[in-house]
Amino acid sequence: MARRKKIYEGKAKTLYEGPEPGTIVQYFKDDATAFNAEKKDVIDGKGVLNNILSEYFMVGLGAVGVPTHFIKRLNMREQLVRSCEIIPLEVIVRNYAAGTMSKRLGIEEGTALPRPIVEYCYKDDSLGDPLVTEEHIAAFGWASQQDMDDIIALALRVNDFMSGVMYSVGIRLVDFKIEIGRTYDGDFQRLVVADEISPDSCRLWDIETGRKLDKDVFRRDLGSLTDAYTEVANRLGVMPKQSVQPTKPTLIN
Ligand code: CDP
Repeated sequence: MARRKKIYEGKAKTLYEGPEPGTIVQYFKDDATAFNAEKKDVIDGKGVLNNILSEYFMVGLGAVGVPTHFIKRLNMREQLVRSCEIIPLEVIVRNYAAGTMSKRLGIEEGTALPRPIVEYCYKDDSLGDPLVTEEHIAAFGWASQQDMDDIIALALRVNDFMSGVMYSVGIRLVDFKIEIGRTYDGDFQRLVVADEISPDSCRLWDIETGRKLDKDVFRRDLGSLTDAYTEVANRLGVMPKQSVQPTKPTLIN
C-alpha cells in the first residue's frame, strides 16, 4: 500500500491526507489522555470503539439534517472525512452539572441545569483549553457573530439528537464537547460538526444506576474503559462483529 502523508498527530487520533483533494483520513488510536495529558495510557480497543461510535452518531446527525464532516468509515480504525478549517474552540453543551462546571461553580455533580448551557473553551493545550466568552471570540476574531449563531444552533441540535439517542438506551447525556469546522463550496462557507463524537468527549451515565460509561472511568480510575465503551456500543447495537481486543498469536501444532 502506498505510504500516506501524515498531516497531524493528536492525543487520540492521527490525520492523514485522504485519497482525493479535500478529504482526510482520521485514524483512531488506543491512546487515552486526561488532565491535559498528565495521565496517559493505552487502552486496547478504544480506537475501534470510538471509530464505530463516532460513525454512528455522525451518520445519525446527517440523517436528521445536521451537517458533519463525516464521509464514510474505511475500516475498524479509520474514517474518511471532509477536510475543514477547525474553529479553535471546544464547544461544550451541558444538561447536568459535572466536571469543571461543578468545581467552578460549586454545584453538585448530577444536578439538572435549568436549561442546556453552552460554553466555549479556547483550544490550546499549552494553556489548558481555558474557558472564554463570546466577547473574547468576537474580539480575537475566532468566529463572527453569524458563526456564533450557527454554532449555538448546531450545538443545541446535536444535544437534542444525542440526548434522545442515549435516552432510548437508558443513558443520560450529562454533557459533551464538539468541534466545528468550516468547509467551503466555492465562496460559500458552511459550518459542520467535525472531529469526533464518542464516549471520550461526552459524559454518559446509566439512568438507572448512575454508572459512568465515558472517559471519567479512565480519569477517575473507575474500572475498565473498554468495558464501559463496549456497553455503550452494545446498547446502541453497533458493537463490531470481530473482537476489538487485538488477537494474540496462537500456536499451531
Ligand atoms: O472533562 P473535564 O472535567 O476536564 O472538563 P469539562 O469542561 O467538565 O468537560 C465537559 C465535557 O466536554 C465532558 O464530557 C468532557 O469529556 C468534554 N471535553 C472534551 O471532550 N475535551 C476537552 N478538551 C474538554 C472537555
